[in-house]
Amino acid sequence: MAYNLTALIVDPNKEGRLDVSRTLEHIGLDVAGEAAYGTEATVLSVERRPTLILLALDDPPVRGLATLEALQQLAPDIPVLVYSTSTSASLMRQAMRAGARDYLEAPVRSEDLRDAVNNVLAQGEQRQMGRWSPGDALNSARGTIITVAGAKGGIGKTTLATNLAIALRQVTGQEVALIDSDAQFGDVAVMLDMEAKQSIADLARNEPMVTRDVVRGYLQRHQSGVDVLLAADEPDDWRAVRPEHVTSLLHSLAQTHEYVIVDTPGVMNEVVAVALHEAALVLLLTSLDMSSVKDTKTAMRILDSWELQRSHVRLVVNDNTHAAAVTAEDVMKATNLDVSYFIAHDPTVGFSVQTGKPILISEPSSPYSRCVLKIAEGISGVAPREVRSKVRMPFGGLRLVGGRSR
Ligand SMILES: Nc1ncnc2c1ncn2[C@@H]1O[C@H](COP(=O)(O)OP(=O)(O)OP(=O)(O)O)[C@@H](O)[C@H]1O
Ligand SMILES: [Mg+2]
Repeated sequence: MAYNLTALIVDPNKEGRLDVSRTLEHIGLDVAGEAAYGTEATVLSVERRPTLILLALDDPPVRGLATLEALQQLAPDIPVLVYSTSTSASLMRQAMRAGARDYLEAPVRSEDLRDAVNNVLAQGEQRQMGRWSPGDALNSARGTIITVAGAKGGIGKTTLATNLAIALRQVTGQEVALIDSDAQFGDVAVMLDMEAKQSIADLARNEPMVTRDVVRGYLQRHQSGVDVLLAADEPDDWRAVRPEHVTSLLHSLAQTHEYVIVDTPGVMNEVVAVALHEAALVLLLTSLDMSSVKDTKTAMRILDSWELQRSHVRLVVNDNTHAAAVTAEDVMKATNLDVSYFIAHDPTVGFSVQTGKPILISEPSSPYSRCVLKIAEGISGVAPREVRSKVRMPFGGLRLVGGRSR
């Protein structure tokens, strides 16, 4: 290994730093400096311009992840390798999503560090030569992946996914992608009145490698400006869609789009598992009837067994039937989650769904649209422009129950 390669160590623990600096020395890398989390790390990375950064990450990961993100923003060209005593899959994913190039188990072994360093250096060369690899897709993913899920069919997932995509596009003006991951019975096409020229199943079947350039060819632009990857209109060979396609697809889209919304079917299959794991935010939808609440409880147990972090999950109550057998409070008690958003019943939704004209476009001041705009605002931090119409909303209109999931 060349002698002028240097590494900055970011670790709040002094002994940890010492350990890693010995390992670096062992493989012939110079230590550019040592820092704890926060500004100390960011300042040193800018001042010393190391070849790479080694960053410790342990539970709770908040400070470490924040430092990782800050480093990525300030010096995106300096690769960051994370090391941790934790082998939690979810911590690994968080680190990768925040921009880490690799995740090493601590105490870091010389062989592992040498391999990881060689890998990032090779990737750097590839990038300079303009080549692309799936690894890159993972590493530079920046967009926010939002998965709309629920334990049942017919509770309003697709209605929310389509309108939320349009709302995010409207309020932020940024690039938004919408994926119909229900390759068998997906009906995003119907709700947006679009015809699938190329479907998610075609993509899975035809493409040995899913990259952002490949994905671009399968997206269709809706009049709202949202880029959509549809499921086929007709029953298709949806079995071609494997979890690994969805992973690559999401990583690729997150490079080109600020928001990637995934609509899911009402069953928890392995494609849904990927969409949930990759999401920075899961909108878990439930309606106000006993069976939906019961199924949502079961879904939470499944998500827990898949080690999905509850902090990513937001419970959304959709009063789609208006036959409220239970209240939002009952839902909270049953699921042990706060209700983050409440979507009012709105009889005009049915018509918009039937005619393929999303309510957010046809009736932007309707109760449903207002609720969805509020969710888009909550996610993006951008307030929608004032809707001028004086439509009165039932029960005091949008009830946005504050609070976060556990
Ligand atoms: N807030 C609401 N008020 C009134 N009707 C609603 C509301 N939300 C959804 N609906 C209606 O509920 C029905 C089911 O919605 P949708 O197709 O979005 O459910 P889904 O969960 O995607 O179902 P599936 O799992 O079968 O795909 C639609 O006819 C839609 O018009
Ligand atoms: Mg649906």
